[in-house]
Amino acid sequence: MKGTVLITGAAGFIGSHTADLLAKKGYKIKILDFLAPPVHIGEWPNYVNNKGYTLIKGDVRNKKDFAEALNGVDYVIHLAAYQDQLPDFSTFFETNTVSTSLIYEIILENKLPIKKVVYSSSQFVYGDGEYISSKGELFFPELRSLQQLKEKRWEVLDKYNEIAKFQPFKEDQKVNPTNSYGLSKISSEMLALRLGKTYNIPTSIVRYSIVQGPRQSPRNIYSGALRIFVTQALAGEPLTVYEDGNQLRDFVNVEDVVKANALMLEDERTNFEVFNVGGGKGYSVLDFAHMVKKISNSNSQILVNGEFRRTDTRNAISDITKLKSLGWSPSQTPEKSIKDYIDWIKSEKFDVAHIVKNSRAELKKLGVVDK
Ligand SMILES: NC(=O)c1ccc[n+]([C@@H]2O[C@H](COP(=O)([O-])OP(=O)(O)OC[C@H]3O[C@@H](n4cnc5c(N)ncnc54)[C@H](O)[C@@H]3O)[C@@H](O)[C@H]2O)c1
Repeated sequence: MKGTVLITGAAGFIGSHTADLLAKKGYKIKILDFLAPPVHIGEWPNYVNNKGYTLIKGDVRNKKDFAEALNGVDYVIHLAAYQDQLPDFSTFFETNTVSTSLIYEIILENKLPIKKVVYSSSQFVYGDGEYISSKGELFFPELRSLQQLKEKRWEVLDKYNEIAKFQPFKEDQKVNPTNSYGLSKISSEMLALRLGKTYNIPTSIVRYSIVQGPRQSPRNIYSGALRIFVTQALAGEPLTVYEDGNQLRDFVNVEDVVKANALMLEDERTNFEVFNVGGGKGYSVLDFAHMVKKISNSNSQILVNGEFRRTDTRNAISDITKLKSLGWSPSQTPEKSIKDYIDWIKSEKFDVAHIVKNSRAELKKLGVVDK
């Protein structure tokens, strides 16, 4: 036995796959998750049941629940989080940042012999990142203005009003999150690294790009191109693409992400370091919609009607050179992620028509999509 790993949020997508890989490697698995909607319906999902995992239903914001979960473990992978672009700004900090500080608070108070903490952050911390202007100067653009987006001038512009050139995100560049989710993630990263260094608790940060694969709950479709397009395609509804569809994203398969998580636990070179975990290649959202349409054999139309979300970044591609230097590299393609996700959605018999209708109504109510 290699020791016990507490994985928070492992009733969810990335956590459950991480649990499966680490269990296969000989670790004992403990899970803390509150099983709340929209991702869950109050029950442990079938993919974590009956696997010999210790399952604790509790909230990472609650010190008593977290202390119970941390008791007797050797490693922590903190994945539970409040996500997406929603207007209840404070919930991001309550869930993501407070819970991260609780880990270190409980370790210190109880003198717990934790060997490693891994914190799951996001590519979102970079915001729009770094661009090169038409005159060759490097700069960090501000969020595109509402007026610019309403005028459908989607590209990031330099101070000369010319289109600027995107640079892939590097771990040591300036961070500039555009929303509460990204801000809560960077504050959690900073807390984890600071407290980890001060109290000598080895800590690693992973900044995932868009992660794809089975078990990504389709009930929570405020964001995530794969789950939105697949449910729309299977429901025979139009695939709705924001902006003009030419924004670039990088996608990484969950199988590659869990290998990166395992590397963080097992390789001391990752201590007190930050790593991008991405697919290494950019795709336009429009091309990705076409890939989903083709692989799902759908007759749905692809709809580009100028809708946008005001805190979306135009381009997001991570440079993965740093993690590759430790021997990791992405091995799976977006085509495989799409195929695996479609197979899973079909096998679980989700009511995709109901999901698409509901999410449309919900998005309208929340006012997160503009035109
Ligand atoms: N999926 C992606 O593309 C992606 C990209 C970048 C970063 N991340 C990060 O990876 C982590 C895992 O994401 P995921 O895609 O697996 O999400 P997910 O929604 O599938 O899983 C998150 C889990 O956390 C649990 N949770 C949320 N709030 C909780 C609370 N207060 N107490 C206890 N449990 C709680 C949820 O019930 C859920 O099971 C998150 O920290 C997320 O920010 C994900």
